[in-house]
Amino acid sequence: MEKKYPTKIPDKYMQGWDNLYNKNLDETKLDELPPHFVHYAVLEFSFFILGQENTDKKALELATGDGVDACYLAQLGFDVTALDILSSSVDLTKRRADALNVSDKITVIEGDMNKFALKPKSYDVISAVQCLQYLFDRALPRMYELLDAIKPGGYFLYGGNVKPHFKTDPPVRFITLKELRQALKGWKIHSLAREERLVRPGDRRGYVWVVAQKPENK
Ligand SMILES: C[S@@+](CC[C@H](N)C(=O)[O-])C[C@H]1O[C@@H](n2cnc3c(N)ncnc32)[C@H](O)[C@@H]1O
Repeated sequence: MEKKYPTKIPDKYMQGWDNLYNKNLDETKLDELPPHFVHYAVLEFSFFILGQENTDKKALELATGDGVDACYLAQLGFDVTALDILSSSVDLTKRRADALNVSDKITVIEGDMNKFALKPKSYDVISAVQCLQYLFDRALPRMYELLDAIKPGGYFLYGGNVKPHFKTDPPVRFITLKELRQALKGWKIHSLAREERLVRPGDRRGYVWVVAQKPENK
């Protein structure tokens, strides 16, 4: 029977991620953390900033995918809540956390990042990498809600696509560098970049990422 995916994201995307996570469950060496270059940029910067002493600090990782970033934050000492809408991602994140001995630091939830209840000023770190764009018209408002949910002095780790990008139906909502700068006015920007990559012949893609710290008085 054909699997039904619970969002308006093109089914072929959801299927693609589902297949990838299921494949990773079978094949990947789970005690290694192999990041995509956007993760690498975000994680490298966060490592130097967040350091390794983060006990009693809370991190939220949205759309955790293969669980790499969630496990990385757990390795840095955070108590991590990791969320994804696909059960394959939840399984993979749990298995990866076991393989890395950080399962006591991670709560993995199968859920919708748009509906997940957020309290203001409740997380020391929120990470949203390659995911908010799939919330379409809720992408930008949800980002502002995430920023609200970060404690004063806490961090926002963000990565996403921008144009150029191949056309999708429906079109995903890219958050531009200008919108990020606007939303993060007054924050300390530790890293902010835009890059274009030729992923394969004829497929050039734009990426942005940010590591930003909320001011103490916000
Ligand atoms: C491009 S992948 C990125 C995964 C991971 N953050 C990364 O950077 O590798 C997009 C992820 O978003 C998840 N996703 C899409 N819509 C979602 C939603 N509404 N709530 C939670 N997760 C969602 C998908 O299941 C998928 O794991």
